[in-house]
Amino acid sequence: MPKLFRAALVLACVLNLTSLSAQPAAPRPAPLRDDPKMKLFIDGLMRRMTLEEKIGQLNLLAVGFDVTGPVVSKDVDANIRRGNVGGVFNTYTPAAARKLQSIAVKETRLRIPLLLGYDVIHGHRTMFPMPLGLAATWDLGAIERSARIAAEEAAADGLHWVFSPMVDIARDPRWGRVVEGAGEDPYLGARVAEAMVRGYQGPDNDLTRPNTVMACLKHFALYGAAEAGRDYNTVDMSRQRMYNEYLPPYHAAIDAGVGSVMSSFNDINGLPATANKWLLTDLLRRQWGFQGFLATDYNAVNELTDHGLGEASQAAALALQAGVDMDMVGEAFLKHLAPNLQKGLVSQADIDKACRRMLEGKYRLGLFQDPYRGVSDKRARQVMGRPEYSAATRDLARRSCVLLKNERQTLPLKKAGSIALIGPLAQSQRDLIGSWTAAGDWKQAVSLEQGLRAVGGPAVKITYARGANLTDDRRLHDQLNAGGGQLMFDARSAEEMIREAVQVAQQADVIVAAVGESAGMTGEAASRADLGLPGQQLELLKALKRTGKPLVLVLMNGRPLTLSWEDQNADAILETWFAGTQGGNAIADVLFGAYNPAGKITMTFPRALGQVPIYYNHKNTGRPALGDPNDKYKSSYLDVPSSPLYPFGYGLSYTSFEYGKPELSASTVKMGQPLEVSVTVRNTGNYDGEEVVQLYVRDLVGSSSRPVRELKGFQKVLLKQGESRRLTFRLTSDDLRFYNEELQFVAEPGAFEVFVGGNSRDVQSVGFTLEAAPGL
Ligand code: BGC
Repeated sequence: MPKLFRAALVLACVLNLTSLSAQPAAPRPAPLRDDPKMKLFIDGLMRRMTLEEKIGQLNLLAVGFDVTGPVVSKDVDANIRRGNVGGVFNTYTPAAARKLQSIAVKETRLRIPLLLGYDVIHGHRTMFPMPLGLAATWDLGAIERSARIAAEEAAADGLHWVFSPMVDIARDPRWGRVVEGAGEDPYLGARVAEAMVRGYQGPDNDLTRPNTVMACLKHFALYGAAEAGRDYNTVDMSRQRMYNEYLPPYHAAIDAGVGSVMSSFNDINGLPATANKWLLTDLLRRQWGFQGFLATDYNAVNELTDHGLGEASQAAALALQAGVDMDMVGEAFLKHLAPNLQKGLVSQADIDKACRRMLEGKYRLGLFQDPYRGVSDKRARQVMGRPEYSAATRDLARRSCVLLKNERQTLPLKKAGSIALIGPLAQSQRDLIGSWTAAGDWKQAVSLEQGLRAVGGPAVKITYARGANLTDDRRLHDQLNAGGGQLMFDARSAEEMIREAVQVAQQADVIVAAVGESAGMTGEAASRADLGLPGQQLELLKALKRTGKPLVLVLMNGRPLTLSWEDQNADAILETWFAGTQGGNAIADVLFGAYNPAGKITMTFPRALGQVPIYYNHKNTGRPALGDPNDKYKSSYLDVPSSPLYPFGYGLSYTSFEYGKPELSASTVKMGQPLEVSVTVRNTGNYDGEEVVQLYVRDLVGSSSRPVRELKGFQKVLLKQGESRRLTFRLTSDDLRFYNEELQFVAEPGAFEVFVGGNSRDVQSVGFTLEAAPGL
């Protein structure tokens, strides 16, 4: 398209912006709230600060509990007294928080309060399902509520700052951290990011309220695109792909007013994120207008040396100049910024800028008014583990379950007869609460066995056999336990364990096999090069299959697995992720039909590892693998179909839904005019049930090649048996925009296709044309 015409279209879009969206409108986020006195106050304070005190504000230390890197902070109390510490993480409870804070506000020269942070990722004491499970609910209100409850508990435990949400788009299930995010889709990822920020910071972003916490958006940026799914690995990506496919969730969280950002470990196009000025300053601050502060990830400044950017003092200078305000744990700023200033490697203005942002963060949190934010043992007792929080996590866990298969209505189970409960995860409590467990106590988690007994009642006979270990690799087993895994290793031979399980299964009416991964096999530094069930679990399932009994798989895992055999041979498969404190009860609710599952996967499940990375919003290529399967010269594999096993957005229900053909309010729309897409969905089965109705768009002709489908809206609806509902989505030219080759955000006139369905594959479509606005 000629450049001039394109420029005109960009203008057309800008002039005709409407605020309609395909998702029922969420309240518009308030920007970070500042009071007019903040600048005056900080100017005054900074005038009194020495260089050392300013640098001290940029230093974040770790105390106690778990560490994920090689550096453990020493002499924390003494360092706080010297004014060398801006914040501390990994410690909580009212007593611990008050103790540290009182050193800062009573024993330092300027009495500047500390910032207290922690990895509150999916709950603080009440553990919710892992974020990938939360996303599978497609329920933004419920997700926001999980963050709200986490904020209530964390704030009552003395915390001000949580290292969440993690919004890294992930298309490669080998990467263990896919479990920490919302999956592969930028649109859904953006909505989840906003919901989490609202939940933590409150709807008006007024962080002076003592029951809020400041969120920290991470990991900026593109961490999820680590090559080969290997953690901390390199990312090399075109700007166009970044803007269209990976950056939207970060951008959405910034627009939602997130108070802080964490830089990622990875290299981006040759420059590690933590030293990347384009990323941390040009994009984040100049283009997106971020006003908060930026902290590094764990020891990431020192790691610049291993990235090959020079020794520690140079690394410190590069990071500060790129836009880092706070150095997590590595103490590189503390050691090197003063000498760097003398050598002229950094300027006073660079240091002042970072110090000011840290003080602003503390001011926004109200710490200068009340450094303790009202924490007390009494308040903590009132807030922690309230019964309604337990009910909320059970509800979210049920909603996060995804029914992947259900032949001959194997599920729901009857509350009568006998169940052979088999598998290494059947009795586990520790695994249910997943990784990043904050202050969660796994001993309070309800195991699947406990849940089945409680929900099934006395008429259900449950017998148990372990059947297999989660892994037979002793080295891995020990490593996982060293990280708090609580894995049990049964020393019997695999054959013996399988034999026992088969005997138990033969006596029962139905087999429920709880298989998957341990919590520690996912999360940070938990990449896997094989996506099958680990250890002897598949062999166990094969033996159970031979009994001829109905075989129900309850999967607990943190990533898409390759489940081709399981899909062909199990009668029913329920994906439950790591479901949180109430996991066992929630899964039992689903298995016995007290709750009709409605979750949908937010990452594509491959048939085979070789298909990875696999995602629904791919490009068409010049040789799409459609039509004649004997035509060899197509974008396909010789040994496996190109299609996924379970597509993005997929998930079944105990009932069935019938979709009418989508209808449009017009077949041609002018730039800037909204378009309505309507569809009638009917519950045609025997249960009331919820359905996530999904709307996708394809831009058929563009100045750049465009994805075959892009999610642009969804609605989750409850339909009673036999009920029909006509749903309407509103699309605007805003929803049709994308970043073109020059990185202009444009909607281009031409033909589009709209798809509506219950997942990204099973859809019906209708076309429309977008016309340029009059006069252009
Ligand atoms: C992780 C972050 C986490 C930080 C602090 C790092 O290793 O990448 O996600 O917030 O540690 O614990």
